Amino acid sequence: MSLLEVKNISKKYGATIALNNCNISINESEIHVLIGSNGSGKSTLCKIISGSVQADEGEIFIKNKKKIIKNPIDSKNLGISTFYQELSIANHASVEDNVFMSNLPSKYFFLIDRKKLRNSALKFYNLFKNVAGEDFSLSTPVIQLREDQRQIVEIMKVLASNTKIMIFDEPTSALDKSQVECFFKILKNLKKQGHSIIFISHRMNEIFEVGDKITILRDAEVISTNKLSDVDQDTIIKRMIGEKNLILNLKRKSNQIKTPALTIRNLCGKNFDNISLEILKGEIIGIGGLHGQGQSSLLRSIFGILPKKSGNIFIENKILNKTSPRKSINYGLSYISGDRKRDGIFPGRSIFENIFPIHFYKNKKIFTNRNGIQPLANNTLDLLKTVYSSINQEITNLSGGNQQKIIIARWLINSPLILLLDDPAKGIDLSAKADLYSLINQLAEKGVSIILYSSDDEELLTYSDRIFVFNNGKITKLLEGSEKNKYNLYEASYDN
Ligand SMILES: Nc1ncnc2c1ncn2[C@@H]1O[C@H](COP(=O)(O)OP(=O)(O)O)[C@@H](O)[C@H]1O
Ligand SMILES: [Mg+2]
Repeated sequence: MSLLEVKNISKKYGATIALNNCNISINESEIHVLIGSNGSGKSTLCKIISGSVQADEGEIFIKNKKKIIKNPIDSKNLGISTFYQELSIANHASVEDNVFMSNLPSKYFFLIDRKKLRNSALKFYNLFKNVAGEDFSLSTPVIQLREDQRQIVEIMKVLASNTKIMIFDEPTSALDKSQVECFFKILKNLKKQGHSIIFISHRMNEIFEVGDKITILRDAEVISTNKLSDVDQDTIIKRMIGEKNLILNLKRKSNQIKTPALTIRNLCGKNFDNISLEILKGEIIGIGGLHGQGQSSLLRSIFGILPKKSGNIFIENKILNKTSPRKSINYGLSYISGDRKRDGIFPGRSIFENIFPIHFYKNKKIFTNRNGIQPLANNTLDLLKTVYSSINQEITNLSGGNQQKIIIARWLINSPLILLLDDPAKGIDLSAKADLYSLINQLAEKGVSIILYSSDDEELLTYSDRIFVFNNGKITKLLEGSEKNKYNLYEASYDN
């Protein structure tokens, strides 16, 4: 019998359609997998069911009765709890306080009953005790935990709620094999006891191991729902991509010179292992795969923001013994991140002050003739079609896309030889994106070498000459020529 039914749900964020007229039905004692590429609407659907986001249209039924879910409390009261992809844990609270955050046992009406709390939490702790690591205890503040351990806390929270419906939005993305195995045992038990589970994962082996049904989303729409035993990996990938995009392979007019600009040999670091690749002058190399497979860490290690464990980096033929951003800048490397908060702007400062720090550093300037260098900034900003009224304007008064262009300009006025682009167009509008990539193309034509990581597969396929696919910290496939198409990219990304 259908326990939860979502009918004709639609949701827009501004002009973005996140969900378009979606229907899903979840039965009792069922593990129902949702799959779809980045941005296809999976998390939005989960958030609507869990009350943290409101649908624009559509209805939700529990046991055939229409229910209104206005907030997370409504959802909880209907027997739904959710593992949020972004996690919903309090960093400074302990593991046990987090597990029972919304349901702390009390005594004498208002005091937290610590003994009861510890006893109840132990049950969930014991489930993961053998796989969570030695430094994981009930009293550990969450802030001290690793990413996998935080995910375990978020899982424990859902389990502790003991609701009939449990939603898990990418709960295994940071877990290792033994942790996933342990979690799946729990899921299968829950199913036996009659619980209904919505489970999101990008790992094919996990989906086939634990799922009963699979719903595939593409571009905000539900494409199909099937029993897992009725579909195979090939069908799933094809439906996620859609017929017309299967062999999408947009040719870039490339102008490489057959001299290596940057060579990486057996590089190991945090989140990546044994990476070797060579990039020619004027070439754009794409690094693809699902989000968080080590791509960003590799770029940050090449630039010297993160340490490398072993392996070598050569710029042309010179070996780069110790890496640091300082050295990298002197060697002509630039690193641009799409995460403006992490690596980006100096809020409260002018555009001018935001553009010149690297230039001053590289040219060892302490005093400068402002009028002399200003044209350099204006030219670069014009190339990027930046919209601003004056170079003295405070940066946060600009739109996100224009702020991002300022950061890019910061790195471009020094004529870099090698550009490391870490999801550079994340969160900027389409026209800013087009301006950015047109400039990237022009730079490559002038001989600049570019390594591009993009979470947008189409961007990657369109602008890269070759694509190295990352899976679990390793390069698992090189796509070039006619092999550089969406099907092959997805197959290599989702395979494990
Ligand atoms: N809070 C938000 N504001 C604006 N756009 C959003 C927001 N949340 C999601 N989106 C957009 O809605 C679409 C669906 O996103 P999401 O549901 O997170 O996809 P998925 O979980 O499948 O990756 C994407 O285009 C995403 O950029
Ligand atoms: Mg999501």
